[in-house]
Amino acid sequence: MEKFVINGGRALDGEVAISGAKNAAVAIIPAVILCDEPCRIENIPNISDVTLIGRILQEMGAVVKRVNKSTLDIDPRHIASCSATSELVRGMRASYYLLGALLGRCHQAKVCLPGGCNFGARPIDLHLKGFAALGARHELVNGAIIDVKSEQKLHGNNIYLDFASVGATINIMLAAVKAEGQTIIENAAKEPHIVDLANFLNSMGASIRGAGTDTIKIRGVDYLHGVTYSIIPDQIEAGTYMCAAAATRGKVLVKNITPKHLESISAKLREIGCEIKEYDEALLVDASKMPLNRCNIKTMPHPGFPTDCQPQFTALLCTVDGTSIMNESVWDNRYQYVSELTLMGAHISVEGRLAIIEGGSRLTAAPVKATDLRAGAAMIIAGLCADGTTEISSIQYIERGYEDIVGKLTALGADIKKVYFEQSADQGLRA
Ligand code: EPU
Repeated sequence: MEKFVINGGRALDGEVAISGAKNAAVAIIPAVILCDEPCRIENIPNISDVTLIGRILQEMGAVVKRVNKSTLDIDPRHIASCSATSELVRGMRASYYLLGALLGRCHQAKVCLPGGCNFGARPIDLHLKGFAALGARHELVNGAIIDVKSEQKLHGNNIYLDFASVGATINIMLAAVKAEGQTIIENAAKEPHIVDLANFLNSMGASIRGAGTDTIKIRGVDYLHGVTYSIIPDQIEAGTYMCAAAATRGKVLVKNITPKHLESISAKLREIGCEIKEYDEALLVDASKMPLNRCNIKTMPHPGFPTDCQPQFTALLCTVDGTSIMNESVWDNRYQYVSELTLMGAHISVEGRLAIIEGGSRLTAAPVKATDLRAGAAMIIAGLCADGTTEISSIQYIERGYEDIVGKLTALGADIKKVYFEQSADQGLRA
């Protein structure tokens, strides 16, 4: 058992370098399955979700070699089967990208239902509708394995997504990249990692236009050649450090980022009174000079305010005087962490998709748990601000998506440690 132990009350100060984007990496690594030659992927974040997807590809017959902390060589030529049904597949959400990638490679895919962070229903009906439009039927085997297949080569089609789903857009792109003819995805998601995946596929010889807009056009090709490709910086990791700087009233230079990807986050931080300076590949967040003000936030698909920064901003708004309202419009049930924040003295009431945050009272340390990845980041931010020593359990969720969070925060002046515990007979924890 492992926990994070944080002695709160120190303003963050200094510089932090942002790693490659988790949600781009977990799409681009399975996308290598479509390639006819080996690839080198750079700027990969060193996080457990990446290790897991690499191991899944290895189990399938790919040769995956870690060249250094942030570079993977992947040779997909020996992938012999179109199934991925091991226990590892259940361990992460993004394993559903194996469906699109395997369909694109061999017109069939058998993949376990994905696991990952649990914040309510996470349907994949739009992915399956997209596959059906390309000519692939699916069935659920034993309630656990999705079997999608097409008798012949997939064919392009026009697909309208009822919601601009990130996962469905990516999965349909993967399946369509080698399909016969043209596929058009309307109401496509526009997140930075959609564009990154399209750039990666195009660099291998795919023909994808319009990624980053509502309409993506994919003309199928027969062959994809090997490339060296560097993944974009992680928008959400950057947003998390920006938010932590503000919450602790600190001053942090967030480096190795694309400021354009962070506009909605910078706008909200400016609105509450932080000073933000933009550079080519960095942003300075300064919350040390002025008192911060309340604000309202509604999460939206990109370029709106990202749902993956919602818990972190809720923690920040707890530290600001006045009533702020968070409106979560992407996920049905992403406030499970609120009960943990209230253990630390936060005053938040949840009504459906709204969280009403009565900010301004001091947070106090308590034993809390990370209920999912971004919820865990919110607990860290709360712990950095709280009086006393906060212990955060279930940190495996946090390590799925944040590279060396202890090292990066320590370099900014935080007092945070990872501590190993043994579980005692009465289920209590002792160091
Ligand atoms: N939806 C459907 N049907 C579908 C797919 C989605 O109804 O077939 C609904 C979902 O229920 C949800 C909304 O559409 O209400 C958005 O879902 P989306 O498909 O966009 O999310 P996702 O692809 O499953 C990715 C990220 C999430 C992030 C969301 C939204 C990855 C691996 N995951 O999930 O990231 O919250 O997009 O931006 O890219 C995280 O990093 O912590 C994380 C959860």
